[in-house]
Amino acid sequence: MQKELFRPALHFSPAEKWINDPNGLVYYKGEYHLFYQYHPESTVWGPMHWGHAISSDLVNWEELPVALYPDELGQIFSGSAVVDWHNTSGFQTGEEAVLVAVFTHHGDDNEKQSIAYSNDRGRTWSKYSGNPVIQNPGIKDFRDPKVFWHEVSQKWIMSLACGDHIQFYGSANLKEWIYLSSFGETYGAHGGVWECPDLIRLNTDSEQKWVLIVSLNPGGPNGGSAIQYFTGDFDGNVFLSDQKEEEEKWADWGRDFYAAVTWSDLEEPTWIGWMSNWQYANQTPTENFRGSMSLARTLSLENRNGQYYLIQKPVFPDQEKLKTILKTNELILGASSYKASVLQDCSIIVEMDISSFEAEGWSMQMEGDSARITMAFDAKAKTFIVDRTKSGMTDFSSHFPSVDSMPLDYLRNVSLVLDRASIELFVNDGCAVMTESIYAPDGIQSIEFKAEKGEVVVESLTISAVLE
Ligand code: FRU
Repeated sequence: MQKELFRPALHFSPAEKWINDPNGLVYYKGEYHLFYQYHPESTVWGPMHWGHAISSDLVNWEELPVALYPDELGQIFSGSAVVDWHNTSGFQTGEEAVLVAVFTHHGDDNEKQSIAYSNDRGRTWSKYSGNPVIQNPGIKDFRDPKVFWHEVSQKWIMSLACGDHIQFYGSANLKEWIYLSSFGETYGAHGGVWECPDLIRLNTDSEQKWVLIVSLNPGGPNGGSAIQYFTGDFDGNVFLSDQKEEEEKWADWGRDFYAAVTWSDLEEPTWIGWMSNWQYANQTPTENFRGSMSLARTLSLENRNGQYYLIQKPVFPDQEKLKTILKTNELILGASSYKASVLQDCSIIVEMDISSFEAEGWSMQMEGDSARITMAFDAKAKTFIVDRTKSGMTDFSSHFPSVDSMPLDYLRNVSLVLDRASIELFVNDGCAVMTESIYAPDGIQSIEFKAEKGEVVVESLTISAVLE
């Protein structure tokens, strides 16, 4: 059977039509729910619904019927979902715990927060008759509620994006909310609107910190949409950052990782993002569907000299879904390069560990009949780049062909997932991450590894193909 062009094997994409942000991520009774911004009538953005998919392993997804439709209060913009284990909302009717979704109703120039509930494991939803639960206080951008249960203060906490800052609200029952505090006007990057916040607790090796995730559009480090984060503390009322106000911390330096938030009710903090960028999201060259999610990624923190940085590790499919197509040990790059052939039009995972780096640079070039993508580390400039200027179909938007870069002190390992229309690159055990969409219609046939001015010893290199 002819494969559909650009249809990913490892990433969630809808059977048809448009998607953007992940919404309502909640884990309940063995099912990971992934709701998402969905336009069931078209492959471009339009009146927003919540589409729905579920998974038992965060890799294989089953699409279910649309969960929430627009109504007289407006479109259904982004938001979250929780399991209301103690029925604080009073919505529970049977044996199953009730799932409560908290979302933005987007009316004509008026955003307010509303809720809906499900007593059948997320299959059907009823909107609360008392909606909205938070009226618009006169703030134009007032959206994307993310809710969690705060054990210490015994209340629900909502983070809400408000243009150039985040507001926190508290509630005992998910219906009545009181304003607690604000964070952000003077912190971080402000090249655009703040969206899709998430306040989470993450572990380093020895301590716990609170991290506030904030999507920003535009104003990302390489242009357009991107996600920044702030580390600090939260006492149930106020978020206090331990960063300098002007400091910017980016979760992903690529162009295509946006609106990511975490699953509620999960032990291990795990998030997923939308793999696109508002600069060109409506123009990408897919046919029946437009948009896909990233891989799910687990999150932790690293304490580097008193500063805290996000670590992301992708959730891969089970080993039996992968076929090793290449495995080498002790490869010396220097005088000669190393070229590996890969099966055309397959999805692959490349994992490389470096044991010694005595060179000025390193690069990895993927080539196909009509595409070349270069990833390179410049040890002198301490930067890592992804060049997708010749990555196949690039002219659908002037914003797309780009050389994107991130700061990087050294190169120890690389883990890369190529899945037809995207590259997710995790460098140095997930300390530095770049996600980029690419549209190479003829696939990739080879990958060439090189060292510049010196020698790089690769301890191991594995390339696996994803079996479909
Ligand atoms: C982020 C976003 C959200 C909004 C949704 C609308 O990508 O702009 O702020 O709720 O998309 O689809």
